[in-house]
Amino acid sequence: MIEVKDLQKSFGDVHILKGISTTFEKGKTNLIIGQSGSGKTVFLKCLLGLFDYEEGSISYEGKIFSKLSAKDKRNLRAEIGMVFQGSALFDSMTIAENVKFPLRMFTKLSESDMDERVNFVLKRVNLENAHNKLPSEASGGMQKRVAIARAIVNKPKYLFCDEPNSGLDPKNGNSYR
Ligand SMILES: Nc1ncnc2c1ncn2[C@@H]1O[C@H](COP(=O)(O)OP(=O)(O)OP(=O)(O)O)[C@@H](O)[C@H]1O
Ligand SMILES: [Mg+2]
Repeated sequence: MIEVKDLQKSFGDVHILKGISTTFEKGKTNLIIGQSGSGKTVFLKCLLGLFDYEEGSISYEGKIFSKLSAKDKRNLRAEIGMVFQGSALFDSMTIAENVKFPLRMFTKLSESDMDERVNFVLKRVNLENAHNKLPSEASGGMQKRVAIARAIVNKPKYLFCDEPNSGLDPKNGNSYR
């Protein structure tokens, strides 16, 4: 379970998150909706520890994220998958290398086990023949699907998706529900 208590976040004088309190329970899918610019992406980045905030706390399974040691933060991050709004792929890596990245970072799997897992998730997002393309050679919707594959490749306990359907056609958009 993830618990958020009275989260306050500003950029300079602009107060973006004004006391967000919520819980995300195990086994539930939660949807955050709000106007463009209302702070959805900022909130997700706070949950991931990518943004600092002025007040409040975020805890995972009862442990406050900001108080974890560097090692525990890393262990927790290994359990989190994130689909960023703009896909955030590494430009200089092929699609397969992008998807393999979390496995290299967080696991000790053999090269062939990693390849097998990469093949599985790329198939899952209907991208079986794109392994060796660079992100710049892929369409926006393909890039989004690579980002989804990368987010799920390490079987994350927590999966955060920032606008995962934007840029996808209805068939592809429906297939990951
Ligand atoms: N790094 C930053 N520095 C300064 N201001 C920022 C930064 N990131 C976001 N903001 C501001 O925070 C506010 C919320 O932005 P955010 O990206 O969270 O909106 P959003 O709800 O995700 O919108 P959208 O639906 O368009 O993706 C906006 O006013 C934005 O300009
Ligand atoms: Mg956003």
